[in-house]
Amino acid sequence: MIRSTLVAAALLSAVPLAAHAGDPRREAILAALAAQARADDAAFAGFDAARGETLFRSKWAGGDARTPSCTTCHTDNPRQAGQNAKTGRPIEPVAVSATPKRFTDAAEVEKQFGRDCKNVLGRACTAREKGDYIAFMAGL
Ligand code: HEC
Repeated sequence: MIRSTLVAAALLSAVPLAAHAGDPRREAILAALAAQARADDAAFAGFDAARGETLFRSKWAGGDARTPSCTTCHTDNPRQAGQNAKTGRPIEPVAVSATPKRFTDAAEVEKQFGRDCKNVLGRACTAREKGDYIAFMAGL
């Protein structure tokens, strides 16, 4: 009896995590980023959506002056469609709730982080920053 109650409690507490994570391909991308973040810093204690939001909304000084922030192209509202500030082309919303396929193609995720972090921050994003960003977008 006690055991089945514990199992039920464990299952219930796993539900919000599963809803948050969703697609197994996104889970695998996050797991790889977490392994890298841990290798970079032994004190790494998990991804943080609030840090991801700060990364997304900050105005950076090190990159291309035309694109000081992720919001320059992805807008202030991740649930809304964006527009490429350089080409004018539309961009689908970056929040997973609005565009469920977001962060499910590892090669695409790496390619865009590479390009966009260089444009905005003037450097590569760290594994922790990438995971924080995905955690923010997946939790919206
Ligand atoms: C110059 C415009 C521009 C800026 C600024 C920009 N992005 Fe993007 N981003 C794009 C475009 C274009 C795509 C590819 C089209 C798409 O995924 O809808 C994209 C896609 C992405 C993807 C891929 C998402 C997926 O589903 O695979 C990630 C990750 C990403 N951006 C992160 C960022 C981060 C982090 C910042 C800020 C540091 C940022 N972007 C700033 C234009 C931009």
